[in-house]
Amino acid sequence: MKKEVVLLIGAGQIGMAIARRVGYGKKIVVGDKKFENAKMIAETMNCAGFDVEPMEMDLSSRESILQLIDTAIRYGEIKMLINAAGVSPSQAPVEAILQVDLYGTAVLLEEVGKVIAKGGVGVTISSQSGHRMKQLTPQEDEQLALTPTEELLGLYILQPENIKDTLHAYQMAKRCNEKRVMAEAVKWGERGARLNSISPGIIVTPLAMDEFNGPRGDFYKNMFAKCPAGRPGTADEVANVAELLMSPAGAFITGADFLIDGGATASYFYGALKPVRVAPFAHAIQDGNQ
Ligand SMILES: NC(=O)c1ccc[n+]([C@@H]2O[C@H](COP(=O)([O-])OP(=O)(O)OC[C@H]3O[C@@H](n4cnc5c(N)ncnc54)[C@H](O)[C@@H]3O)[C@@H](O)[C@H]2O)c1
Repeated sequence: MKKEVVLLIGAGQIGMAIARRVGYGKKIVVGDKKFENAKMIAETMNCAGFDVEPMEMDLSSRESILQLIDTAIRYGEIKMLINAAGVSPSQAPVEAILQVDLYGTAVLLEEVGKVIAKGGVGVTISSQSGHRMKQLTPQEDEQLALTPTEELLGLYILQPENIKDTLHAYQMAKRCNEKRVMAEAVKWGERGARLNSISPGIIVTPLAMDEFNGPRGDFYKNMFAKCPAGRPGTADEVANVAELLMSPAGAFITGADFLIDGGATASYFYGALKPVRVAPFAHAIQDGNQ
C-alpha cells in the first residue's frame, strides 16, 4: 500500500526529533553517510510505532541523492523533506564542508523540488553561523541563491584563496542554505509546496560535542553561558519550530529562515557576546559559531 513519504537526510539528533513530530503514519526514508546512524534511528523509531527505512547515502553526491529519491518514491509521493545532514567546522576540511553543506544541500533542494507532492513541505537545517558572519554584497547573495548547482563551487567567493578556514567555509555554506531556500521556495510554490530553513544556535548533539571538544570549545561554552537563555538548546526545541513550519498552521510561511539560538546572535551584536572589534567593520575577530 502506498503511503505519504517523509525524506529524512541526516540520521542525527535534530533530524530524528523533527521526524518524530511530523512522521507518524507516513513512510520515513532516512539516508545517512554512516549507515549505522540511519539504522540506529530506524530501530529506535520503529520500536516507537513509526515506519522507517534506513539507507546509506551521501549528500555531497547528486547520484546518491537521486538514488535516495528513486527509492523513496516507490513507497509513495514525497510529502515532506527534512534535511538535517551536515558536517561542522571541527569535523571536516574546507572542501568537504563546501561539498556537503553547501553544494549537497543545494542539489537536494533542487532535486526534491522536482518531485515534491502538492501540499508538500520541506525544512533544511542551516545555522546561526550564517547570521553572524559579515554581510555579503547583494550581488554575492544573489550568486549564492541563483547560480546553477553545478557551477556553485566555481564561484569566486568560494575559491580556496577566499575561504580563510573551516569556520568560514561553514558560514558561507549556511548563508548559501538560506539563500537557496528563498530561491527554491519560489519553484516549490509553483508545485503548491513550501520550503523553509531553521538556523539553530548551539544544540546538544554529537556534532556540537565535536565542537565543544575542538579548537573553539571554550568559545562555544562561553557563548551559551552568556547568551540570554544561558544554556544550549535541545533538538526537541528545534523540532518545536519545525513542527509549526511543517503543519497547516505554517501554511503562510515559505522561503523564510528561523533563528533559534537562545538569543546568542542578539547578544553577539548588542550584548555581552559582542566581540572587541579592532577596527570599524574589521572581521579579524573570532566571530564563529555553528
Ligand atoms: N548541533 C548544533 O549545535 C547545530 C547548530 C547549528 C546548525 N546545526 C546543523 O544541524 C544539522 C544537523 O546536525 P546535528 O547537530 O543534528 O548533528 P548530528 O551529528 O546528530 O547529525 C548529523 C548527521 O549528518 C550525517 N552526515 C554527515 N555528512 C553526511 C553526508 N555527506 N551525507 C549524509 N549524511 C551525512 C552524519 O553522519 C550525522 O548522522 C547540520 O546541518 C548542522 O550543521 C547544528
